[in-house]
Amino acid sequence: MKLKTIKEIKNLKGKRVLVRVDFNCPIKNGRVIDDTRIQASLETIKYLIQQKAIIILISHLGDPKGKKNLKYSLKPVYKNLSARLCERIRSSQRGCSGKSKAKNLKFINDCVGGKVKKEIATMRPGEIILLENLRFYVGEEKNDLKFAKQLSELADLYINDAFSVCHRAHASVSAISRYLPVCAGFSLIKEIENLNQVLTKPTHPFVVLMGGIKISTKIKPIKNLAKKADQILIGGALANNFLKIKGINIGVSFYEPAMLGVTRKLLKNKKIILPLDTKIKGNGDNFRIFDMGPKTVALFQKYLKTAKTIVWNGPMGFFEEKPFDQGTREMVRIILNNRKAKIIIGGGETIAAFKNQSANWRIKIKNNIFISTGGGAMLEFLEGKILPGIKPLIN
Ligand code: 3PG
Repeated sequence: MKLKTIKEIKNLKGKRVLVRVDFNCPIKNGRVIDDTRIQASLETIKYLIQQKAIIILISHLGDPKGKKNLKYSLKPVYKNLSARLCERIRSSQRGCSGKSKAKNLKFINDCVGGKVKKEIATMRPGEIILLENLRFYVGEEKNDLKFAKQLSELADLYINDAFSVCHRAHASVSAISRYLPVCAGFSLIKEIENLNQVLTKPTHPFVVLMGGIKISTKIKPIKNLAKKADQILIGGALANNFLKIKGINIGVSFYEPAMLGVTRKLLKNKKIILPLDTKIKGNGDNFRIFDMGPKTVALFQKYLKTAKTIVWNGPMGFFEEKPFDQGTREMVRIILNNRKAKIIIGGGETIAAFKNQSANWRIKIKNNIFISTGGGAMLEFLEGKILPGIKPLIN
């Protein structure tokens, strides 16, 4: 898969560039609490500053359902981005005022229309503006052509640097490509290169570690990956569906009755490896499986230790509650110890668990590990789908 890339665009100086980023970050008390996605966009933004483009950042945040709702404002993101840009700019000795405010970054409380156009018209090369939440307009999620056209009127060129939203056929991701020349930013390019590599030429043994809650969201990627991987290790509540079919008592644990048919077929595949033991909460038949047991940790370790490619999506248990975080923690430890494998980790909770645990252990995440910004997008890509946001970027 070859994409049209930002590097191919000559002479960006003074050009108005609309950059679709995914700043859908978790926010608490008006502050961004995990800015992985903001950091992922910095390379593209920094490059555009160097090239003296006029940079217009667009994103969604949460689900305001097409209405202006300040609970979903991107203002907290603006503050975080300002501080992050300042770190970068300060390292090159220019452009910052005070402690953490980037002078070349503005925020405006709308994303289309006359006021936004006017503000952009005052911008100088190298300056950045972050527009307000795209999903304040109903046209965004409807992939509405009129809304896409309104967005396109703000710029000369469009860059998609938001892999994590590429599975959505939304106006700022898909329809926009009808109105502007398009290309991929650095973060998106890295995502595609990494994920494509595991789909097309993985080094074997290739082991997939799949956890999380709903098998319905994982069945398609599991099926596609089963054609390429050597083992698919199943953990989390996903495994309950398989255990149920095998006649194992899962108490009142979560499973999806409608998915038992497809799960039964999948169970015939010898590559599927299931938990050998579990940790439960509750008594009698009134218990729930909350984690994998030690025999399962040892079994999964056997495969993960010698793997040369690993893809991990979804926690192994109810990791928010001790001691049921142990299975997930053990997987983090095993994965961090495998320095020879190419490892891709995705999904919000998996990344949070992985980052927190490595930070607690003060272990630096090495270059063999790629942390994908995509949750749903990563899974749909691994299904083998051409995502609606990627399609217009294919060269
Ligand atoms: C995500 O968080 O996965 C992306 O930002 C997409 O968000 P959505 O699921 O609300 O479309």
